[in-house]
Amino acid sequence: MFITLEGIEGSGKTTQLKPIEAFFTRRGLKTVVTREPGGTAVGEKIRAVLLNPDIEKMAPLTELFLYEADRIEHLEKTIRPALAAGKIVVCDRFCDATVVYQGYGRGLDLEMIGRLHRMILGGLTPDLTIVFDLPPEIGLERAWKQVRGGSRSGKEMRFEKEKLAFHRSIRDGYLTIARLEPERFAVVDAGADANAVSDAVIALLEQFIDRDR
Ligand code: TMP
Repeated sequence: MFITLEGIEGSGKTTQLKPIEAFFTRRGLKTVVTREPGGTAVGEKIRAVLLNPDIEKMAPLTELFLYEADRIEHLEKTIRPALAAGKIVVCDRFCDATVVYQGYGRGLDLEMIGRLHRMILGGLTPDLTIVFDLPPEIGLERAWKQVRGGSRSGKEMRFEKEKLAFHRSIRDGYLTIARLEPERFAVVDAGADANAVSDAVIALLEQFIDRDR
């Protein structure tokens, strides 16, 4: 089973990885928790370039192909082997992030991104994608607070530095693609405190697993 988490900056999705992993472990299911960009040795190097706040201007296509290069490596080294071994894969961001950030955000052609994904994925799609939704003003404030408090690295803030309008287009993008594929997406209100969000996510997973049986 392949589960992906998505959302704007500061949506709290990464905080939810632990309770999600604990949920599957309680059920005796082996789980691999991973992330994009990253999740492999090569991917972590690519991540450092992609999120470096000192790089102000990167051509949108360079950005797109770096995310896809990271993903190809991640699929080959981490995701496909884990799924083949019958494990649950929980991934902090995946292809939908590219559709939304590089497509809706940077304005790259959605059809071209779709074609790339069909080629790279070869039919693989997440079984469930949870979108953590909240207004970008609140998400950005949380993200910068985490940097000031030391729980988020200031070396990864290239996207947080984008204008509010960019983040609004990201939120709208996620809500739009979630409406287009309601059977795969679940939208969770991420404005509540982390425990309440966790409860909502666990309830969703219980429902999903029961439905899948
Ligand atoms: P995060 O680890 O804090 O979620 O940061 C990853 C950043 O990379 C986030 O700003 C979203 C961005 N991103 C893209 O623009 N395209 C992608 O395909 C992925 C996976 C992430």
